[in-house]
Amino acid sequence: MYRTKTCGELRLAQAGEQVTLAGWVQRTRKMGGMTFVDLRDRYGITQIVFNNEVDAPLCEAANRLGREYVVQVTGTVAERSSKNPNMPTGDIEIIASRLTVLSTSATPPFTIEDNTDGGDDLRMKYRYLDLRRNAVRRNLELRHRMTILIRNFLDSRDFIEVETPILIGSTPEGARDFVVPSRMNPGQFYALPQSPQTLKQLLMVAGFDRYFQIAKCFRDEDLRADRQPEFTQIDCEMSYVHQEDVLEIFEDMARHLFKEVRGVELPAKLTQMTWHEAMRLYGSDKPDLRFGMEFVELIDVLRGTGTFTVFDTAEYIGGICAKGCASYTRKQIDALTDFVKRPQVGAKGLVYARVQEDGNVKSSIDKFYTQEVLQNVKKVMGAEPGDLMLILSGDNAMKTRKQLCELRLEMGEQLGLRDKNRFKCLWIVDFPLFEWSDEEQRLMATHHPFTMPNPDDIPLLDEHPERVRAMAYDFVCNGFEVGGGSLRIHDGELQAKMFEILGFTPEKAMAQFGFLINAFKYGAPPHAGLAVGLDRFVSIMAGLDSIRDCIAFPKNNSGRDVMLEAPSEIAQEQLDELNLILKKN
Ligand code: AMO
Repeated sequence: MYRTKTCGELRLAQAGEQVTLAGWVQRTRKMGGMTFVDLRDRYGITQIVFNNEVDAPLCEAANRLGREYVVQVTGTVAERSSKNPNMPTGDIEIIASRLTVLSTSATPPFTIEDNTDGGDDLRMKYRYLDLRRNAVRRNLELRHRMTILIRNFLDSRDFIEVETPILIGSTPEGARDFVVPSRMNPGQFYALPQSPQTLKQLLMVAGFDRYFQIAKCFRDEDLRADRQPEFTQIDCEMSYVHQEDVLEIFEDMARHLFKEVRGVELPAKLTQMTWHEAMRLYGSDKPDLRFGMEFVELIDVLRGTGTFTVFDTAEYIGGICAKGCASYTRKQIDALTDFVKRPQVGAKGLVYARVQEDGNVKSSIDKFYTQEVLQNVKKVMGAEPGDLMLILSGDNAMKTRKQLCELRLEMGEQLGLRDKNRFKCLWIVDFPLFEWSDEEQRLMATHHPFTMPNPDDIPLLDEHPERVRAMAYDFVCNGFEVGGGSLRIHDGELQAKMFEILGFTPEKAMAQFGFLINAFKYGAPPHAGLAVGLDRFVSIMAGLDSIRDCIAFPKNNSGRDVMLEAPSEIAQEQLDELNLILKKN
């Protein structure tokens, strides 16, 4: 046996026992005639003691150990004279009687401890060493636990796990596809699934009734802290359900997970907020409800009531009230102004107004407005003495709301209102079915082309498609879109109409989705589904800033795996075999 115990399990009750442990040398310390080794494995750290006076050669061997050597140690469990209450094994140590080096180690490029000295790039290059650190390993343990809980939950609700292929044709989810050349079909390419969307719908036509898959998805899109080119979905589809049925099942699943993993009770019924309401109050379809600071529209109060032309020509004027922030210094306000002017936010400027202790409003637009108008602003914003009102305006309401959303989140951050240990989940419903794409100069499906229009809005499809609501829903937690789904069209004619509005000719629709259109001719049950981003769900539960931290081998911001050095060039023979000629730059 390599070991009889792990490095995390010994306690005072085992004092006197002879044990064998195996693990990595975290560090060695020499003190007087003693050498102490911290031995680490996945389960914890145990202190090993070598006594020069008892066994000098053994102690010398311990002194020669380097960091990250893999060793096997046999010894006796003993009570420590100076206990370490911060470690589960801190009451004991092992008095070593035998030491075997199983593997030596080069000096690691960074210290493998909770507070490492390694920068991001270095840790990514040596990810297998980074994964030895507690913090990173714990995230993967949590991911494992959540995956098991989800599988068991869905199994208990009659969902069947079905694997769908990775080499498929294009699935339109709004991002670019990753493509794979086919050697056996020269000049042709597979696409990696952006999600198993169409396949799971076919499983409903096939009568599976309830499907799920912990599915790898691939999207060639610009990366952010909550996006990876390769990520995992808990992908589900159900037949014979209404929207409320789907929401109920997933609320139950979320409730179960929050309870089991974080000991948090979600409310009996989650809030459902319409997309319009979310945009109006928070300027976002994924509002962070851990704090209020809702937008107040000020067009009626400020347009045409003074001499500030910026407001007089604005399509939207909105403000947020930061409680108790009237004491913000000029420097702090300037920093906020710089924040909203950053290209990522894009506002032209920031108007601020302090409510003084006497109730008077002192603002950056005093010269344009009477105190009476400013008092009106105070009133509609519900501001009180000591509060700071922050106001943005613009000639595009949607863009300005998004800028105000960034400002609201920044204020939430500055005021410590975005506590990672508090969770506010909700559903966003009634999304618009289509959105206008400036880039493509056409209507695009907000969710995907298979989403059912709200039956009440079907008469609007021809004349006012932009006003049609979708039977689509997103699961939002702490300002992140964790999951999304919709009721699907199961009627061939309606699907054809959708393709037409989206600018597909019948031939193009047939070429791309013929398999689905044909399948729907053979008895498609009404169906609906949802996919939850596992990486995002885990990172929210773990309070992480980036989903990278809960992925074993993530890509960096340029989509590269710096450890495997992928993507990389391939040999000429491989290109020849695939019938590919690379364009020379
Ligand atoms: P959607 O595109 O909304 O829906 O994706 C569902 C969830 O997947 C996660 N997600 C991502 N996570 C990490 N990196 C990414 N690049 C990334 N892109 C998406 C998000 C998101 O909420 N087929 C539909 C679902 C359905 O209609 O059933 C779909 O994929 O958490």
